[in-house]
This record gives sequence, C-alpha cells and structure tokens, in this order.
Amino acid sequence: MNLSIIILAAGQGTRMRSDLPKVLHPLGGRPLLDHVIETARGFAGADIHVVIGHGAEQVCAAYPDTDIHWVIQNKQLGTGHAVAQVLPDVADDRTVIVMYGDVPLIRHATLDALLANAARGEIGLLTAELDQPAGYGRIVRDHAGHITGIIEEKDASDVQRRIREINTGFMAAPAGRLRGWVAALDNDNAQGEFYLTDVIALAAGDGVIVSAVTTQDPHEILGVNDRLQLAELERCFQRQQAEACMQAGVTLIDPARFDLRGTLQAGQDVVIDVNAVLEGEVVLGDRVSIGPNVVLRDTRIGDDVTVLANCVIEEAAVGSGVRIGPFARIRPETRLADHTHVGNFVEIKKSDVGQGSKINHLSYIGDTSIGRSVNIGAGTITCNYDGANKHRTVIGNEVFIGSDTQLVAPVEVKDGATIGAGSTITRDAPAGELTLSRAPQETRKGWQRPVKKKS
Ligand code: UD1
Ligand code: MG
Repeated sequence: MNLSIIILAAGQGTRMRSDLPKVLHPLGGRPLLDHVIETARGFAGADIHVVIGHGAEQVCAAYPDTDIHWVIQNKQLGTGHAVAQVLPDVADDRTVIVMYGDVPLIRHATLDALLANAARGEIGLLTAELDQPAGYGRIVRDHAGHITGIIEEKDASDVQRRIREINTGFMAAPAGRLRGWVAALDNDNAQGEFYLTDVIALAAGDGVIVSAVTTQDPHEILGVNDRLQLAELERCFQRQQAEACMQAGVTLIDPARFDLRGTLQAGQDVVIDVNAVLEGEVVLGDRVSIGPNVVLRDTRIGDDVTVLANCVIEEAAVGSGVRIGPFARIRPETRLADHTHVGNFVEIKKSDVGQGSKINHLSYIGDTSIGRSVNIGAGTITCNYDGANKHRTVIGNEVFIGSDTQLVAPVEVKDGATIGAGSTITRDAPAGELTLSRAPQETRKGWQRPVKKKS
C-alpha cells in the first residue's frame, strides 16, 4: 500500500507553560514527536509529513538530515486546515494516516487495523469508550449503528455529550477522497475552526463506510496537554519498558522505580535494584548487578559486574568481573579492564585502568593510564590540570601507590615502582624502586600541650 502519514504538530501547547514547543518535551528521554515518528517509520516506505507552526524552527532543527517532509501551517485554523496543508503533496492513489505529535504511545498494530479498513475503501477511525468522555469529540451513530459523524464537545447537545464513544483523532482514509472532503470543510462551529472530524459526516453522506476500531488500551490514545499528563504518560511508558525488560529476563526489584531513557541491551540474569536511571545506549553483560540509585549513561558493562549503590557511570567501557562503588563516579572516556575494583568516593575521568588494578578509596584519577595489577592507595590524586592545560599521568604494571599521594602530571611511574605514602611526585619514578617525597618526621621530647587559662 502507498502510505502517507500526516503528523499534526502545529498547536501551541499553551498549557505546558513552556518556551519549548510541546512536541519537543521529552518522554523517556526523547521528544514526544520522536515516539510518533518512530511508530510512523514502522510502516516501511511510507512518506512522513509533519505539520508544524508554533516553534516550527526549533522543531525542524531537532531533526537535521531527515527525510521528513515539514509543512508549515502559519495559522492554526483547525485540524482539517492542518491536513489540508499537506494534501497537495499527496497523490490520490495513496492512503493517508493522521497521527498527532503529542500522542506518543499509539501502537503500530492499532494503526494497522485502521489501514485494513482503508484498504477496503472505507475510513478507518480509532475510537474509545470512556467513562469520562468530557473534552473529546463524540461518535454519532444512526439507529443501525453506522457512524454518521463526529460532534465536538463544544458543539454537542446535552444528549450527545452523554455519548461515551469518543474520537481519538487517529484515522486512515484514501487520499483522493479525503482531498475532496477536506476541501468541502467549513468553520461554521463553536470554535470557528476547520474540523478534520467533519470529514466523517461528509464521507458518510457520500455513502462511504466509516468503520471504527475501538482501542482497549486507554494509554495509547492519551495526548499531552499539560505537565501532569506528561508525567502520567512518562510513568506509563516506563511501565511498558520495565515490562519489556522483565520479559527479556531482567530482574527489576521494583518496576515502578526504574527509568530507561534510551535503550537497554541486557544479558542473562541481570538484576537492577530500585531507582536506577539508564540513559542513552546501555549494554549490560550476563549476571550484572546494578545497585540502588545508580545512573548509567551510554555505557557498556561486561559479565559478572557488580555496581554498588549510588554510582554514576557515563560514556564508559567496563570489562568483566569488575566491582564499582558504592558512591563512585566514572566519567566519559574511561575504560576499566577486567577484574578491576573501584571503590567509594573515587572519580575517574578519561583514563584506562588495566586488568586487576584497584582504586578503592577517595581518589581522583584523570587523564591517566594505569597498567595491570596496580594498587592505588586511598586519597591518591592525579594533578592533571595546571590551570591552563591538562597533562597525562602514566602508571605502569604492578605499581603500588601509597595513600595520600599526589602525582603531578605530566609524570610517569614505571613498572613495579612503589610510591611511599604521602608523596608529591613531580618527576618520573623509576621501575622497581621505592620513590617517596616526605618531610622528615621529628619528635619533640618533653613538649607540653597548652592548658586552658582559668578566668
Ligand atoms: C481533536 C478532535 C477531537 C478528538 C481530540 C482527541 C478535531 C476538530 N477534534 O480535538 O474530536 O476527540 O482531538 O484528542 O479534530 N493541530 C494543528 N493545527 C491546527 C489545530 C490542531 O496542527 O490548526 C494539532 C494540534 O497541535 C494537536 C492536534 O492537532 O496536536 C489536535 O488539536 P487540538 O486542538 O488539541 O484538538 P482537540 O480540540 O483536542
Ligand atoms: Mg487536544
């Protein structure tokens, strides 16, 4: 089927009270419009037209290098008017699906059902039965049960307002017929708008069957008009993702306290404790355990890794058998090789840590390469910044750095070297030797502590 998808996204979104165009507000870490476009792309070969108006430049700018056809609707004169802006670009033999930039959770299968109706030359209309239909257009049927029109809430009589079957807005129709009906729309109604919904009465008048697909999932038709609805849909979306993760074999200690703002590829028997936030592309190997309150962004983690509570790991590559945290911060361009340990209050940035090396307590490691089987003592600081430039620290294999050491970069500690605790290392330390810098210790015999004066 030759399919053209029209996504309406020109409205202002006044109730968001935001400078950001509504369809760019994130759901699950990416714009609402992204979700709709992704669903549209599920129909291979369909061309996608997005009607924009308010914040049009910002919306376009969010999608550089795209095959999307942007259509500017300068004045928002109604949903029918919005569709009319696109139809000149759509050939008569195509089928049109109308979607909404602010209704992000619509399912592919539902749109497929609408298309099946349109393929028979009918109009496929997505409706829902709501206990509280207020605000929606109501589906009007004749005595035989055939759909004859849609009446908007503001134009409806008291009797019509009691109808519980509502218009979700989604429809599929043959483009040639739609063009004729849209051209015949007027704005003689309570809102003075060209309603797309009036197409239904025109079609029924022409003897075209309007067949309803009724969704049982209340969330897929929900739109975002304010931040409360945005939050509600976020929870719903996260629940769906949590369920998908669990079905794929991930244990979530509490699916209600799990946030995936991107994609998760997880191995076998992964366990994720409460309040994890996963952003971007996260890859976890087999038997990975993620503790409570952990943030992972664009990170790959190997097998048998334990991340303890309250760690933040961003743009890092973590090997297998690694233990991190609690309270560790791993910053971009860090690679932790297999069997490394990173303990509490350790920050690592743009550094390689070799196999089996340990940085267990209270350290800052930046712009550093560390060999294998190295022990970095508590409180070690790589002084990588001279106030103007960053410099590298190189630590060889099997090095032991005593606690409370400052390594003033650029500096190298060669294989097998030992650095005495409390040292400030400003020159390269030779392989296999003990190097230290330390003021001599003295003891003052007979020294007395001062005593408090009596007043
Ligand atoms: C519309 C339907 C209503 C349905 C409801 C479902 C019409 C006339 N009514 O009402 O039957 O129950 O959706 O949520 O269609 N838009 C444009 N350009 C415009 C006007 C709107 O792009 O000129 C976009 C908006 O950005 C929005 C969508 O179309 O994404 C729907 O518009 P809105 O004004 O919210 O329509 P409703 O009054 O909710
Ligand atoms: Mg609306």
